Amino acid sequence: MIKHIIAAVSIVLAIWSSIYMYGLDKEAHKLENIHKIIAKSAITIKKSTKKLVIKEMLTTGGSSNSNDSANKELEALQKSSGSMAAFKTSSLYAQNCSSCHGKIGQGIIGPKLMGRTKKFILTNLKEFKSGVKKNYVMYGLLQNLTKEQLNKLATEISTFQAKYDAVNKK
Ligand code: HEC
Repeated sequence: MIKHIIAAVSIVLAIWSSIYMYGLDKEAHKLENIHKIIAKSAITIKKSTKKLVIKEMLTTGGSSNSNDSANKELEALQKSSGSMAAFKTSSLYAQNCSSCHGKIGQGIIGPKLMGRTKKFILTNLKEFKSGVKKNYVMYGLLQNLTKEQLNKLATEISTFQAKYDAVNKK
């Protein structure tokens, strides 16, 4: 009789312990995944804090204990934001194009236009407007603009690179 009881108890114990071990395994696996997620986010946090630090330095005028590379980065940023401010475009460009192609044609949603020739830009504008080149955004937008305006825009945008270079040399 006692033998039977011992056998039953040990079977129960064996089952219980394997269930327990299975649970532990699962927890360990979860923990591993969590660590992976944390490691990943740490990288992105590192990147965004770097940007934040630079931003902060720009608004506070820089901090004394920052290292050389941060200083250089800051200088470059200040320089480029200075040239952004000095860079004037027509209201025609600013109102119709800059939201997608950037204040100085550097490209955002739309491709970079800075450095393109007048011919390239005008050809593209004409093709978008007529629908030869299919793009709904550009097509819709250009319906409201006259040939003359397209010509003006192409002329203006083709000077962006030279303008940018001139401002940056100062
Ligand atoms: C709402 C966003 C948006 C606006 C506003 C916009 N564009 Fe675009 N533009 C685009 C996108 C997106 C493309 C890429 C289309 C493609 O290649 O199919 C493009 C393409 C172009 C191209 C061809 C560039 C290349 O490298 O292929 C030119 C030139 C251009 N746009 C000029 C202009 C001008 C000039 C204006 C203002 C009148 C303007 N765009 C306004 C989104 C925009």
